[in-house]
Amino acid sequence: MKKTKVMIEGAMDMETELLIASLEQPREYLFGTWRFVEGMYKNVPLVVAVTSIGAANAAAATVLGIEHFKPAAVISQGTAGGHDPELQAFDIVLGKQSFDASSYRTAKEDKTDWRNMELMGGYAYDQHTKAFYPQEVYCPGDEGLLAAAHKTAVSYTRGSVVDGCIASCNSWTRQKERLLYFHENFGSSCEEMEVHAAAMICRQYAVPFLGIRIIANTEFSDAEFQPEAAHVCQNFVLNVVQNII
Ligand code: 5AD
Repeated sequence: MKKTKVMIEGAMDMETELLIASLEQPREYLFGTWRFVEGMYKNVPLVVAVTSIGAANAAAATVLGIEHFKPAAVISQGTAGGHDPELQAFDIVLGKQSFDASSYRTAKEDKTDWRNMELMGGYAYDQHTKAFYPQEVYCPGDEGLLAAAHKTAVSYTRGSVVDGCIASCNSWTRQKERLLYFHENFGSSCEEMEVHAAAMICRQYAVPFLGIRIIANTEFSDAEFQPEAAHVCQNFVLNVVQNII
């Protein structure tokens, strides 16, 4: 059976170098400033996208990658910080859902209580109504890709693997009260900067998408950023692509 082509995205070199080194017959492409490397990994055709950091870069690289390589699925993987106090460094969050943590409306009030906010959906093009309209707050991860990740989770030894909710925006939160507020009110498991932007683009192209993020830092057990987590996540994702049916 011909295996489906998967585009695996990572923002930083440390989040993509192991993927790229694993490719057989690698071919390099540079579109604008975004680097893509296409090749095979154990009979699975892969495209590794080095997106750079943040939502705008993730969106741009996702569009370029989908247009050029026509992948059958997209995975945004890499490091994240914990929102759920139960999660430890090296635990992995599978993005059953994601949302844009910078997309909110505050209460109308003279003084600032930052907690008085409600999340808003992102503005996106809907293929069915052919209109731009405010979408739901949460974007679901693809069930087929989730199933492949669940299969992989069974043999993961560095921590637990949980289905969760990924909060994306271009900020880095270190205040425990704010982290807990997001976790308790919006259900987030972790935060990072790319997943939701890539998810929105994939939804508009109707390409199956999943965010897979490893906890590399968490304020709750005082773990500073652990670069090794980036490599562990890439190995996990290389196993996930083997399990996609
Ligand atoms: N908050 C936000 N982004 C984080 N990243 C890792 N940990 C965090 C965190 N606690 C990732 C982002 C971005 C880079 C700065 O690291 O996704 O690519």
